Amino acid sequence: MSELDQVTLTAGEKSVALPVLKPTLGNDCVDISKLTKETGLFTYDPGFGATASCKSAITYIDGDKGVLLYRGYPIDQLAAKSSFTEVSYLLMNGELPSSDELSKFEHEVTHHTMMHESLKSFLQGFRHDAHPMAMLAASVASLSAFYHDTLDLNDPEQRRLAAIRLIAKMPTLAAAAHRYTAGQPIRYPRNNLSYVERFLHMMFEVPSEDLELSPVVAKAMDLLFILHADHEQNASTSTVRLVGSTGANPYASVAAGITALWGPAHGGANEAVLKQLAEIGDAKNVAKAVERAKDKNDPFRLMGFGHRVYKNFDPRAKIIREMTHKVLGELGVNDPLLEVAMKLEEAALQDDYFVERKLYPNVDFYSGIIYKALKIPTEMFTVMFAIGRTPGWVAHWLEQQVDPDARIGRPRQIYTGSPSRDYTKG
Ligand code: SDX
Repeated sequence: MSELDQVTLTAGEKSVALPVLKPTLGNDCVDISKLTKETGLFTYDPGFGATASCKSAITYIDGDKGVLLYRGYPIDQLAAKSSFTEVSYLLMNGELPSSDELSKFEHEVTHHTMMHESLKSFLQGFRHDAHPMAMLAASVASLSAFYHDTLDLNDPEQRRLAAIRLIAKMPTLAAAAHRYTAGQPIRYPRNNLSYVERFLHMMFEVPSEDLELSPVVAKAMDLLFILHADHEQNASTSTVRLVGSTGANPYASVAAGITALWGPAHGGANEAVLKQLAEIGDAKNVAKAVERAKDKNDPFRLMGFGHRVYKNFDPRAKIIREMTHKVLGELGVNDPLLEVAMKLEEAALQDDYFVERKLYPNVDFYSGIIYKALKIPTEMFTVMFAIGRTPGWVAHWLEQQVDPDARIGRPRQIYTGSPSRDYTKG
């Protein structure tokens, strides 16, 4: 944090003093809200790499040091000691729950896991080979058509209940999308199971035999959900906030976040990483892949590498990399793609192109290998990311609803089109 309390911008004859806002942690921010009024100038920051869109107390990232805090708690401590439902409570409420608060929260989430029966026929409208992200986004957006009792955004209890419903139903909707495309009967959530076990049951239990739930698989999935739970103003969370800023209901706002997450530059990267590793196929092809990733004339990029904020190792990637070896070992899975991934990481981290640009493995680089070992279909990988990110999305939506600075998001532009001209057609 600097000693600056204002900066002065001189534009021709004009100069304007702009206040400097101080964070708890991280970069000071120049408040430019009066810049245009005082100078007529806009600022230009494509991708918002240097722009704070809001004030938030939920998550802090130090990209240079590879630090990630959820409500002040370091991600490695939460990964080692917490659970996904406890982290969900923390992100939503700002403090860790007492054991009584946690059991009440888990009980409430458990009793909101069923989806409206009509949603089963809604899913029937999709082709059998529909991508589950398309089905998830559509079914989440449709929730506002079923739950009219949580659409009054001025009522804090309705806002809270909508957040609970989204956390509760995301696994049910996700599993239903998978079961539909797999041609298997949709499974109802079992209230006697934990959050992750319930999801695994809905994903993999078939009428012809009992499902044996593996504690190793459940623990690994719970940890992956913790690691994906929030990440400051990433593209999908910023989308939830932008849509939420218009007064749109929480189901529509989160559905918009799901569609933003789908892109391969964002949450879609985990699915793209596995496909890329399979295309590389063998460690002997790694050098060629690295060369292609450096070639500006080739759109090929190393998926799972690089990050807008982290210019050091993504702390989540470190945890997932260690977890990959542990989980595959415990499950007795020997995946040749793991060796390809390790060779690719080793080659990239020794290559000047990646070193100069501070391109390190991110959260998506190893997660797909674990999902594969947990028998999650590749096209469900980004759906897994969406389940994990839901507490973050709803926490930011709730925070925005009570933010006195919150306004409708409406950026400006640099107009590069035609000057005004008359319509002269005969
Ligand atoms: C997530 O924001 C978040 O917090 C996201 C996330 C979350 O939890 O919400 O962390 C989850 O989305 C992780 C990122 C997943 N995406 C990928 O793994 C896709 C591959 N990565 C890249 O597309 C890229 O690194 C981004 C999109 C992640 C970041 O893009 P930026 O910040 O706009 O960086 P850039 O494109 O300006 O790259 C800077 C330079 C460029 O080269 P030069 O123009 O300087 O010569 O690095 C190069 C890029 O060409 N580069 C890569 C590269 N990533 C960046 N070159 C090869 N392979 C890559 N993966």
